Amino acid sequence: MTSARRVYLDHSATTPADPRVVEAMMPYLTERFGNASSVHFFGQEARAAVDRARREVAGVIGARSNEIVFLSGGTEANNLAIRGLCEGVKPQGRYIITSSIEHASVRGICEVLERGGWEITRLPAYEDGIVKVEDVRSALRADTVLISVMLANNEIGTIQPIREIGALVRQERAQGRKHLWLHTDAVQAAGRITIEVDQLGCDFLSLSSHKLYAPKGAGALYVRRGVRISALNVGGHQERERRAGTEAVPGIVAFGAAVRLAREELEQRNDSARELREKFEAAVAERISDVVFNGRPERRLTHISNISFRFIEGQSLLISLDLEGIAVSTGSACSSGTLEPSPVIRALGRNDELARGAIRFSFGKDNTAADVNYVVDVLSRVTQKLRTLSPLNKVKVSSSEFRVSS
Ligand SMILES: Cc1ncc(COP(=O)(O)O)c(C=O)c1O
Repeated sequence: MTSARRVYLDHSATTPADPRVVEAMMPYLTERFGNASSVHFFGQEARAAVDRARREVAGVIGARSNEIVFLSGGTEANNLAIRGLCEGVKPQGRYIITSSIEHASVRGICEVLERGGWEITRLPAYEDGIVKVEDVRSALRADTVLISVMLANNEIGTIQPIREIGALVRQERAQGRKHLWLHTDAVQAAGRITIEVDQLGCDFLSLSSHKLYAPKGAGALYVRRGVRISALNVGGHQERERRAGTEAVPGIVAFGAAVRLAREELEQRNDSARELREKFEAAVAERISDVVFNGRPERRLTHISNISFRFIEGQSLLISLDLEGIAVSTGSACSSGTLEPSPVIRALGRNDELARGAIRFSFGKDNTAADVNYVVDVLSRVTQKLRTLSPLNKVKVSSSEFRVSS
């Protein structure tokens, strides 16, 4: 039996397309269907739309249009930045510094490079979920070619000190180091915090459209002017030879419209998410025992709340909430039939039980206070029930050992 009521609290996984974005995109599915590489009128119309979107995306991060490469999404942007750079700089070094809380796409690329002989240092994120600039400085070696640290984490929302890492890279360059680049994955941060690539001091920055109320299938990589990368997709001149393949014009147009709206509504969306999250976290802390809030509270994106529920498997809680019409995520990967605890929550120093019991609630622009009330009511009922049934509860010791942190 499933609930008639539905509350979507998984906006970090994906967002619904905004009707205004769909309206901007529609003509490019029908009458303006040209291939942006075609010489005729239809092609030129599509080309003009792609150029307009490129200006929008560049503008929102303080970049120039020719520094934007359109591609299929955040995963591809991360691949192109890291693999595309590393391919060409092997003679200068084969050593990368990254963090222990990166998105699976960055983690996956680093693992592939590692198997190919690259050395990777994964910096800790400590209990608060934030990488330390001093650790980056200490990890630097003469053969470091790339630092890749995300701008904000996708599971706990913590905002990383990229500006400070960028300043460190600049200092190194000022001292004559030529072969060191900085990549940041801004997929979750975009539309939530103001991004200026020059202030951040990054050479690469990844973006994805579907986290911003646009359809899935479009993204962008910012590549600082003068930085050379090898294309992963070859066999066409598109995107200045950095990403071959016919441009996905409707998705790109939607992406442009979405970033414009995100910029215009940034404050309003943040205010609303912050208000809902505060209400939610206060109610959870008051009504549900044995919960641990993950990520430093004042350094998080406004819309993400990540909570570990002791004595409960996150996956069971997720399914129970789903039956009540509430969509959330565990942040843990299900691999070969075994539930792996979230590596991000583990990286905070939490034990396997807390990592398995972690749930991410991510609010969106259309959520309401009534949604929060409903979710907290269901949560307090469902957690109580699951704890009564849970074998984990049998090992429960004095609950005074477990602090509710916020
Ligand atoms: C931080 C981060 N990076 C990269 C990605 C991948 O983006 P996409 O789904 O567009 O491939 C995601 C998506 O969840 C993300 O949260």
